[in-house]
Amino acid sequence: MIDIQTRTVTADAAGIARAARILRDGGLVAFPTETVYGLGADATNGQAVAAIFAAKGRPLFNPLIVHVADIEEARRHVELSPRAQALAEKFWPGALTLVLPRRKDTTLSLLVSAGLDSVALRAPSHPAAIALLKATGRPVAGPSANMSGQVTATSPAHVAESMGGKVDLILDAGSAPLGIESTVIGFDGDRPLLLRPGAIAREDIEDLVGPLGPPGNLIQSPGQLASHYAPRASLRLNAQEIRSGEVLLGFGEVKGATLNLSARGDLKEAAANLFAMLRELDRTATKIAVFPIPDTGIGEAINDRLRRAAAPR
Ligand code: TXA
Ligand code: MG
Repeated sequence: MIDIQTRTVTADAAGIARAARILRDGGLVAFPTETVYGLGADATNGQAVAAIFAAKGRPLFNPLIVHVADIEEARRHVELSPRAQALAEKFWPGALTLVLPRRKDTTLSLLVSAGLDSVALRAPSHPAAIALLKATGRPVAGPSANMSGQVTATSPAHVAESMGGKVDLILDAGSAPLGIESTVIGFDGDRPLLLRPGAIAREDIEDLVGPLGPPGNLIQSPGQLASHYAPRASLRLNAQEIRSGEVLLGFGEVKGATLNLSARGDLKEAAANLFAMLRELDRTATKIAVFPIPDTGIGEAINDRLRRAAAPR
């Protein structure tokens, strides 16, 4: 059954079939992945992809991630170097996005690449995303399902709040389990670069391919803009105390926190809570202070998002 008000359906067999029909017809479907909710469109349909940019208010120079079922499907669209293949074999399906050279004969819309000769691909592991890709039978372009520059949507309620009137359907599978976007890896020749820290820790990737280089100026993309993921409230990072007018977003053992990302100091739990708690505090507070978060493992991605959320607009 569809909730008419929010256009939300449960991600069961009927919901998936309905979503797949909409995607094949060129519509927009917000869908769950293990990282965050995606705003999906048929990646081979230029008009459908253009509708993503319009709905999000996303600048046209910002390329989109395309979701594929597996390595075989990826191979139809990009050149997979041995290194890229090793990464895909280890981390797919999962929260790793690989930016790779487009094949000349790819059926992907040019717009997903925003004019670059590369494309970002990822095979998601969420069962509902896998089922949706299978039912659709097409690669699905999917940036996060929120307005450009604003706090990432990690639940169907966030999607409805952020872009309710602009999607044809929201596929509901509850909160996204990881709660933070995928790690994006690009290449400079054969050298792997960390374009965006994310749900898979740098250390785990470096175990396989050695040290990751810095992003450099190879691309212009949303996760690299200084201000992104921004709440309305101002954000003060690495706060050791609460100042007048502030609410505190805590981590670990800390007194006086309005919300705590993880009272037991678990970075995975903190990542899963990050965007939902920012949204919740943003409803009432105008100044948010954030306790220090260790920069190890997935903490690197949390601190990256917090810095951009705090950046001047
Ligand atoms: O977890 C995720 O990655 C989520 C879910 C829905 O899969 N998607 C997501 O997409 O976060 P989006 O559009 O919000 O972020 C796109 C990121 C950019 O920040 C950029 O780093 C990278 O993907 N990207 C996409 N295409 C690229 C390209 N051709 N070259 C370089 N980077 C690219
Ligand atoms: Mg985003």
